[in-house]
Amino acid sequence: MRRKMAAGNWKMNGTAPALSILTELANAHDATGPDIVICPPATLLSQAADLAKGTSVSIGAQDCHAQISGAFTGDLSAEMIAEAGGSSIIIGHSERRTAYGESNADVRAKATAVFRAGLTAILCIGESLQTRNDGNTLTVIETQLAGSLPDQVTGQSLVIAYEPIWAIGTGMVPTLAQIIEVHDFIRAHIIRRYGPRIGDQISLLYGGSVKPGNAAEIFTAENVDGALVGGASLKAADFSPIIAALAAS
Ligand code: PGA
Repeated sequence: MRRKMAAGNWKMNGTAPALSILTELANAHDATGPDIVICPPATLLSQAADLAKGTSVSIGAQDCHAQISGAFTGDLSAEMIAEAGGSSIIIGHSERRTAYGESNADVRAKATAVFRAGLTAILCIGESLQTRNDGNTLTVIETQLAGSLPDQVTGQSLVIAYEPIWAIGTGMVPTLAQIIEVHDFIRAHIIRRYGPRIGDQISLLYGGSVKPGNAAEIFTAENVDGALVGGASLKAADFSPIIAALAAS
């Protein structure tokens, strides 16, 4: 059985009072349901981890550096995130690939760092609107998978999030058929690369304008094991029904 996961990416949003959502989510969803991961800004990591201790919610970070330590002003290593109480790290988000020029090789090095620290990597891939309109989506997805996935993975330590860039924060969502096409393609790729035992175990998340109103339909896809949620993860009233829809799927 693959694990179901609802991960919330707060991006650069949220100060300490926002952490009350953790308690709301923990009260509404017990540990028998999907994994619930909240990825707040790094400043809130240890506070969030303290609050989440012993609940159904776990804490993740939004990025890390590939090295353990060194002269990298402003960066955090995966080990530092683990020390702060994080159990997973989002890597290769399109906002970082675009704004900071992160390459597939960078993302691959970060994935290796996440595994080195004993954490789960939530590795993001996804095409631009131009790529989609040019009919090159699967070619780009193939290149991202080939370039950013490390050779050594386990089904437990890796989660892949398919996030079409044009769907992030826009309210635009691919059709169910488009989501199924890409998720089935990713599944086939990882089974080819890692074998069926590991390839079948890796959870695949869909991300990009997931809302309470569209989550249930998205979760009907066989190879969608959860969601990476931005805007709708900032309020329990929005995130909670998404988690419930995943639990019911
Ligand atoms: P969104 O963001 O849900 O606000 O579209 C998703 C993401 O960037 O992970």
